[in-house]
Amino acid sequence: MKNKEKELIAQIDLERMPRHIGIIMDGNGRWASKRLRPRLFGHQEGAKAIRRVVEITVELKLEYLTFYAFSTENWNRPDDEVKGLLKLLKDRLIKEIPELNKQNIYVQFIGTKDRLDPQYLADIEKMAEMTHDNDGMTVNIAFNYGGRQEIIEAVKGMNPEEIASLTPENMNRYLWTKGQPDPDLIIRTSGEHRLSNFLLWQSAYSEIYITDVLWPDFGKIDMLEAIIDFQKRNRRFGGLK
Ligand code: IPE
Ligand code: IPE
Ligand code: MG
Repeated sequence: MKNKEKELIAQIDLERMPRHIGIIMDGNGRWASKRLRPRLFGHQEGAKAIRRVVEITVELKLEYLTFYAFSTENWNRPDDEVKGLLKLLKDRLIKEIPELNKQNIYVQFIGTKDRLDPQYLADIEKMAEMTHDNDGMTVNIAFNYGGRQEIIEAVKGMNPEEIASLTPENMNRYLWTKGQPDPDLIIRTSGEHRLSNFLLWQSAYSEIYITDVLWPDFGKIDMLEAIIDFQKRNRRFGGLK
């Protein structure tokens, strides 16, 4: 392990780790453009950053990690890019399964089935299934994910009694992140200051950390710095102190 990494790990209070971190992986396209390469090359490099982040968070015994991989609005991109992103996800996931199992990581997709080819969906669900006996860190892949869509699907799935007894506390059981704590920390790379439809319900009290680093350059040190920054925040949840 690099010295700087060790130094930063030593600064983290393991008793006060966030339980759930969400990451809006942004800037792949700009990273590629700066190198005069196609946008898809940026996405490929971005996939490597995912592995680095998973490695360091497993080490820190994080419980839940959510990656925003493809939004419901990302269908608005050119066909080639969309096709490339779908293919990349499937190809990478299948390659990562043995390592994910070795690390005891449980993978699940959160998102809507809308617009996805049923065979494609079945294929990626089958891959995620291969990690379902693992009880270490949970990795949510927010794929074809939209926060508004999640809330609408939740409401549409409720019967009248469920609607009548709905509370801010029990809403969680109808969401794709059912049973999971809300993200304590949301990281967005590439300097954009917005949520872009990510975990809208769940982010009500999330701490937001924005870095100018483009996603393919994001490494273990950046992740550690985000957690250290988080631990300096004063979370008030509307109260005082
Ligand atoms: C994030 O990188 C990946 C996805 C949204 C799928 P972008 O592709 O948005 O990169 P920029 O924002 O164009 O640089
Ligand atoms: C958000 O990034 C979606 C993902 C990271 C998957 P975008 O690049 O799509 O967001 P906008 O369009 O800049 O808001
Ligand atoms: Mg972007």
